[in-house]
Amino acid sequence: MATRENWGTKIGFIIAATGSAVGLGNLWKFPYITWHNNGGAFVIIYLISVVLIGWPIMMAEIMIGRKTQESPVPALEILGGKKWSIVGWLGVLTGFVILGYYTVIAGWTITSFISCIKWSFSGYVSPSDDAFGKFIGNGPLQLLLSFLFMTATALIIWKGVKNGIEKSTRILMPVLFAILIYLVVMVLFLPGRTETFKFLFNPNFAELPWEGVLEAIGHAFFTLSLGMGAMITYGSYMNKQESISRSASMVVFLDTFVAICACIIMYTIIFSAPGVKESISGSTVGMLFITLPHLLYTYIPFGATIAPIFYILVAFAALSSTISLLEVIVALLIDKLNMPRHKATFLGAFAAYFVSILSALSLGAVPFLSNWSVFGPGKEGILSTLDHLAANWMLPIGGFFITIFVGWRLDKNITESELRLTNPDGTFKLTYKLFRFFIRFTAPLAILAVILAVIFGKDFS
Ligand code: PFF
Repeated sequence: MATRENWGTKIGFIIAATGSAVGLGNLWKFPYITWHNNGGAFVIIYLISVVLIGWPIMMAEIMIGRKTQESPVPALEILGGKKWSIVGWLGVLTGFVILGYYTVIAGWTITSFISCIKWSFSGYVSPSDDAFGKFIGNGPLQLLLSFLFMTATALIIWKGVKNGIEKSTRILMPVLFAILIYLVVMVLFLPGRTETFKFLFNPNFAELPWEGVLEAIGHAFFTLSLGMGAMITYGSYMNKQESISRSASMVVFLDTFVAICACIIMYTIIFSAPGVKESISGSTVGMLFITLPHLLYTYIPFGATIAPIFYILVAFAALSSTISLLEVIVALLIDKLNMPRHKATFLGAFAAYFVSILSALSLGAVPFLSNWSVFGPGKEGILSTLDHLAANWMLPIGGFFITIFVGWRLDKNITESELRLTNPDGTFKLTYKLFRFFIRFTAPLAILAVILAVIFGKDFS
């Protein structure tokens, strides 16, 4: 067997994994769920979940990949036997599900960007109330946008780990962080900043609904790309010399940083515009794609400059996430079927695009696909159904089995030799002890609570 392609540079993994983690989850979902859970207290619970659950699972996944140098299905099979490879298969299936709707929403950033450019040059024209509904209900346009996004993703994956994923994220990520910091600095001049900081960092636990706690845990999976093997796959390209705990900590930190910055940007804009706070659109989509552009052009100084830049940020973030989703599928085809990369890429993207077609047409264009419902009211349509399925069921279940596998089934010697968290005198570092405790107890129990809540009808998507 050919030796596995590794990241070309020391920070290759961190950049690519941060690219995977930072995405629509940070810029689209997190600001929305934080808003609905009343800020401060939710943010604290979220931070705790990220440390107690996200961080150890991220380490566990990287470790599985790095140890075996294989993608999720063969990796789990090597370490745990045929039975455990089912968890790998579940991951690949989840990749299809998420990629199949993520590309559709990611495609909207292209239109938002083009609209903003138009408005910035020739003046803002407030869209009619039903404009967004008409836009998402325009089947051919939705098909085209998601096709463009899938094609861009496939072209990068086609070029391989070093020349495709690493090279592109090395450009996308620094630009993304530069834009993000620029936007944070810009909004700090707006009057809404005080209220934003109070909302985000002044916790009032009486205002946090109990489901918010579980929602925070559930979101940690989506935002950190956990529970579906993306980090196993990226970990399999990691050099044996790198520190897993340091890399995982860095990715978790950067992802959280972006999520908080996204809230600062959006809320400050919202709080700075008179009377908007009360009328924020009730949907996740509303805040990012309807309310925000309107506010930027009508109330915010320099909004015409900020707006197009902001949507480039969202597009870049989404692209570096779709790359990792497709790579999970492609890596399986390469590892399991010995397929050449270009063939695997074509096949993987083609199959995933088939799911995208169904999602793209489920927003009004085709009534049957738009009304189809498994999870009841509010979850009509293929796109909502897939989002619900992945975020509520598939990722937590995948993550749960990873904790059980690494915490209770995997030979301890493997964990110890991969993590190398011992002091010179042979005793274990505190980081290792914490990891071991979290992965065996805290994380599985917390995820179990989420799964039970979902079984009893809670909806976190
Ligand atoms: N972490 C991405 C986001 O926050 O948008 C979504 C995602 C990407 C989930 C890759 C899972 C994954 F494998």
